[in-house]
Amino acid sequence: MSTTGLPVRFEPNPLARTEHERSTILAEPGFGKHFTDHMFLADWTPEEGWHDARVVPYGPLLLDPASAVLHYAQEIFEGLKAYAHEDGSVWTFRPEENAKRFQRSADRLALPELPVEWFVGSIKALVEADRAWVPTGGETSLYLRPFMFASEAFLGVRPSLKVTYSVIASPAGPYFSGGVHPVSIWLSENYTRAAVGGTGAAKCGGNYAASLKPQMEGAAHGCEQVVFLDPVERTYVEELGGMNVYFVQADGSIVTPETSGTILEGITRESLMQLARDRGHEVVERPVSIDEWRQGVADGSITEVFACGTAAVITPIGRLKWDGDEVVTGDGTTGKVTSDLRAALVDLQYGRATDTHGWMQRIDV
Ligand code: PLP
Ligand code: COI
Repeated sequence: MSTTGLPVRFEPNPLARTEHERSTILAEPGFGKHFTDHMFLADWTPEEGWHDARVVPYGPLLLDPASAVLHYAQEIFEGLKAYAHEDGSVWTFRPEENAKRFQRSADRLALPELPVEWFVGSIKALVEADRAWVPTGGETSLYLRPFMFASEAFLGVRPSLKVTYSVIASPAGPYFSGGVHPVSIWLSENYTRAAVGGTGAAKCGGNYAASLKPQMEGAAHGCEQVVFLDPVERTYVEELGGMNVYFVQADGSIVTPETSGTILEGITRESLMQLARDRGHEVVERPVSIDEWRQGVADGSITEVFACGTAAVITPIGRLKWDGDEVVTGDGTTGKVTSDLRAALVDLQYGRATDTHGWMQRIDV
């Protein structure tokens, strides 16, 4: 393969799905349920560095049961999407930002740094092989999941001397079933997501493992996601299990919790700051207490609340629930600022708006 700038060995999948099988999946992809015909793989050792970049048939990995990742969770991942534009071209949104966050996550988890060109090149190589899997129409995309893990068979607790990097791809519709609608959020009072000095700002699997129990608690209360508070005072809103959070105030300004080491620095979050400012909104990063949220929506000083992230795009938050009570934002429907910002973001991603910030990168060439 040549278009990536990386030497990538390509082994086509002899059992690739038929066009009929693929179009059945693409007609109703769901989220994270179906995977394309190929995957990207590369290996790292201290002696050889990154090597053996290859696109091979998608399938199970053979792992030694002593692989360090299975015992000590030395693993990181990323999430970004490939969007088909009207003219058939395929684009991603700010992939270098994902590449840089992947490097920061790797640093925190004592994994080797993957060069930005390798990250972007791996995505291009996989999309080139599985171009036919990029869905078209509506708000569909090809969700790309780069990940890196400790593959050395060794039980001593130290950074692995063998590391695997991979990218898999999954055609995707909306993250929340039922499409875009205001979701209910459970306030996790018993659990926090990240400790000061911990891994909250890294995108590592362990953070998500720790969010599952609170997520189940939320689901038992009819909520789609959980919001976590700061780990020290248990007072300030941090983020949801898999997305950042924004508040729209009655004066049109928008507020998001400042990142402080325990919150993931979302690329959607950062991009929305710019898009909101472009539209004349004042944007403030500051601590937001849970009481400010509760009282604000009750007295109308907070008019809209929304979650944002690659998977979630922008999802309105209609209801905050906690043990014993709940508050509803506005009239429970999607607010105007939320839908305007959402339209601005997706119009850009799907090539319907001018890319004034140079955020889109074509990846099928
Ligand atoms: N916060 C968490 C915990 C996430 O998993 C994600 C998703 O990647 C986000 C925030 C949003 O980040 P991004 O906008 O870069 O997808
Ligand atoms: C993403 O938005 O890409 C995420 O990683 C969130 C979740 C699916 C883990």
